[in-house]
Order: sequence, then C-alpha cells, then structure tokens
Amino acid sequence: MLIAQLTDIHIGFDPEEEPEELNLRRFRATLARLLAGPNRPDMLVVSGDITDNGDVESFEDAAALLEACPFPVWPMVGNHDSREGLFRAFPNVRGEGGFVHYAVDAGGLRLILLDTLEPGRHGGAFCGARAKWLADELAAHPDTPTVIFMHHPPVVSGIDWMDPAADEDWIARFGAVVSGQDQIVAIHCGHLHRPISTTFRGIPLSVTSSVAPLVAMDLRPVDMHHPDGRDLITTEPPRYALHRWDGETLISHYEDVSGWHALAHYTDKLQPMIHDMFGERGPRD
Ligand SMILES: [Fe+2]
Ligand SMILES: [Fe+2]
Repeated sequence: MLIAQLTDIHIGFDPEEEPEELNLRRFRATLARLLAGPNRPDMLVVSGDITDNGDVESFEDAAALLEACPFPVWPMVGNHDSREGLFRAFPNVRGEGGFVHYAVDAGGLRLILLDTLEPGRHGGAFCGARAKWLADELAAHPDTPTVIFMHHPPVVSGIDWMDPAADEDWIARFGAVVSGQDQIVAIHCGHLHRPISTTFRGIPLSVTSSVAPLVAMDLRPVDMHHPDGRDLITTEPPRYALHRWDGETLISHYEDVSGWHALAHYTDKLQPMIHDMFGERGPRD
C-alpha cells in the first residue's frame, strides 16, 4: 500500500501571473512525477492549503488537475482553505458536523484525516467537537493501525514565525485524545512548508514539505516588531511523500520533484554489486 501525500499547493496565490502562476506550475510538475514515476500510489492525501484564498475557482482548478489521478484522492483543509470551497470541488468528501474530517481504509491501515481550520486564524485549531469525533473514531477501532493526517503540526519546530506556542489549548486538547492510543503509528502534517520529523506524545510525527515554495530554513528567533531582512520563502523544489505500509510498518519516503537527474542505472556493469548485496541477506527463494 502506497499512500502519497501532497501538501500546501496554494493555488490562486498569484492568478494574474502569465502564462500561469508559479504555484500551479509546481503543482503540475509534482502531479506529473507522481503519475509518471515508478511508484504508482494507491491513493493520495492532499493535506491542506490546497488553495491560497479558499475561493471556489482555485479549488475547482485543483480538483480538475487531480482528476488525472487514477486512484482515490482525499483532500483536507488548511488555514488558507474554506470548507465550503472544498465540499463543492470534492463532492465525494462528506465530512461530519460541518467539519472536513473523515476516515479511510488503506489496506488494513486506517487513515484519519483531521480538520484543524479556524477561519481567520493562521495557526491550528481543534475544538471540543472535533476532539470528541477523533476520540470516538479511535475508540471504535482500538486495534487497527492508524495514521493521523492533520494540516497543522502540533509542535514547535524552531522556525519561529510559523510556530504555535507549545501550550496552546488546541494542542493540549489534541494531545489528550491521542495520548496512550497505541494504535496510532504516525502523525503526518503539512503547513510548515519544510520537512521535519519528531515525536508528539511519543508518537512519530513528520511534516511533508510543500508543493508551493518553501519556508526558509532559519532557526533564529524572530522579533515581530523589527524586520531583519532574513529569507522567509525560497525556491527550493517541490517535494511529496510516499508512505509505504507493508502490513506491519509504515515507512515514509520523500522525493524532490526537480533539480536532479540520475547518475547511475541498473545495468550489467552494476549487476554483480547488486547480486552481492542480495546475497548478504541470506538464502532466498
Ligand atoms: Fe501552507
Ligand atoms: Fe497552512
């Protein structure tokens, strides 16, 4: 089971740009790699900030491009999106109680896709209603390996201007629900526009880098009153994740979409080395 994850596409950031905006070009390139590369996913999670302004037109642009996917696509909302726009562009997504949260079976692995949007706010949110929904979902399947996808990482990364405070209520509320839930094998997020891996309440947590331009890697504190001219956004290439579930273990792979080419290929010249490497694994059928 291969679960692809794209995040933070931000369509509609610069709709006036000719011939088409940078974010749309980066999205096309990422989809092209996903569809033409050697690793055909079984499904795709798009973990929020699909659009930049939440408008219906940008959602429809995204949905139209995603129609090229010959596998299910599971969209989520980020802080730049709107629930109304997502529900209109992706009518297969039902949600519950007005929230864009739902669960998906992925070959014995259960995906729970959360809604951490609070309109008008940059950072995350997780109210009592959403906490109850998640607690009920976890309680209903206590023995099924489960991955949680959520747009906002509930952690302090060190990229100061993007971070929440560690003690925000929504983080405590989410933490209380997932603590001690041993069926949760991983939490995968977006929003940060940079890759990180860490743990949250003992659960492995990763952020997949963005399709849209990245947030600059700068861990110095930010003075919100005094701009210091530092880099904020960069042209580092788009990247996507491919989460591989073999029935026991979830392994997450990441690939840059551009800026590289192959230096070696599997030819007769390298076959002896590969043969030896297989030999080291011990006798095989
Ligand atoms: Fe974003
Ligand atoms: Fe975001």
